[in-house]
Amino acid sequence: MTEHQAPAAPAPELFTWEFATNPYPAYAWLREHAPVHKTRLPSGVEAWLVTRYVDAKQALADARLSKNPAHHDEPAHAKGKTGIPGERKAELMTHLLNIDPPDHTRLRRLVSKAFTPRRVAEFAPRVQELTDHLIDQFADKGSADLIHDFAFPLPIYAICDLLGVPREDQDDFRDWAGMMIRHGGGPRGGVARSVKKMRGYLAELIHRKREALPEHPTPGEDLISGLIRASDHGEHLTENEAAAMCFVLLFAGFETTVNLIGNGVHALLRNAEQRALIQDSIEREELGLVDLGIEELLRFDGPVEMATWRFATEPMEIGGQRIAVGDPVLVVLAAANRDPDRFAGPDILDVSRRDNQHLGYGHGIHYCLGAPLARLEGRIALTTLLHRLPDLRLADSSEELRWRGGLIMRGLRNLPVEFTAR
Ligand code: HEM
Repeated sequence: MTEHQAPAAPAPELFTWEFATNPYPAYAWLREHAPVHKTRLPSGVEAWLVTRYVDAKQALADARLSKNPAHHDEPAHAKGKTGIPGERKAELMTHLLNIDPPDHTRLRRLVSKAFTPRRVAEFAPRVQELTDHLIDQFADKGSADLIHDFAFPLPIYAICDLLGVPREDQDDFRDWAGMMIRHGGGPRGGVARSVKKMRGYLAELIHRKREALPEHPTPGEDLISGLIRASDHGEHLTENEAAAMCFVLLFAGFETTVNLIGNGVHALLRNAEQRALIQDSIEREELGLVDLGIEELLRFDGPVEMATWRFATEPMEIGGQRIAVGDPVLVVLAAANRDPDRFAGPDILDVSRRDNQHLGYGHGIHYCLGAPLARLEGRIALTTLLHRLPDLRLADSSEELRWRGGLIMRGLRNLPVEFTAR
């Protein structure tokens, strides 16, 4: 809370079950009374929460806020126990979201040469095929858990295919990813084992692909081969860097997309009028409104609740609040995206909203690299689902929806739905 502001009511309790279910009232309070607010996180770390849109946007682009966890001034006794990614300095953790320029600039330039909008666009038929295949598995049943049966498997198979993980190995990834998503903030053993297995597998796959790389690119070449081939002024990714890059693509591109589909469908099914608008444009094949609608779903209840960690490298101010060197800063995208100073009627879902510069994909040099893929998957998933199951509705048991309650991500554990079997 800022020093000179006297709050009208006591600060809301954060990180409770109620908060995980609906954090927006607490964020509204913070935006108004304590827009840059120091809080103790469940891990015991103290961090600043930035909740206003202007402050959030500025902080995301501020070079004085480093992504490198080495800048965290955490007490020695807490080292490695705070849940701040990268603390354990594993090789896989030296990736885009944990580094600053000039390393970030070099790696981002290299990956951008391989992960191009064209590669993503060419991938559309495969995403469509995967989507249809998953819906085929439950369309004749009349009910499904949309997280388990659809939102969870789609992105993991999609990203595996894009990278070039052979089909017969993709179920291993599904299991590892499942462990990471279920226990993200929980028991370390299983997650650590899954990360280790994934690392071993990726290192070997990258090595094999490098050995077998043809001299010239072939049409439809996979992303790992593209990454190995990518060069900038004669520089290439090392095998370790390539493995860390695949890892960040997997973990940044997986749970986010699960939540885009889960939170998005959930919000639409709870807003009959808005759902009807989207459904109508799908039937008329006017996908402009669907694309606008997906941006609005990202703003309204996006997959990433807080941007990943940042640390002050020099004394600075955010929104008039003094921040000390080494202090962790969490930019709360979900709060900024509902700021009434930026968005008219911020708590209303309006799929035709036009002035919608939300921060759901971040801002500045770490702006989401996978946004074109996320948009493609979101559009295909949503249009296919509503087209094939036009009377899709929340099941009665949806009253007891459980949210995962992690720090960075916001997403449902389950989403029971019903529809006419076909
Ligand atoms: C970065 C959101 C899907 C790859 C980010 C950031 C956000 C974000 C907010 C910035 C984090 C920060 O500044 O701390 C989302 C959302 C997605 C999504 C909402 C889905 C709807 C994807 C996908 C991929 C991906 C599908 C790749 C397959 C990345 C990578 C970064 C990133 C590599 C780091 C970029 C950098 O540091 O330069 N994403 N993302 N994301 N995202 Fe996404």
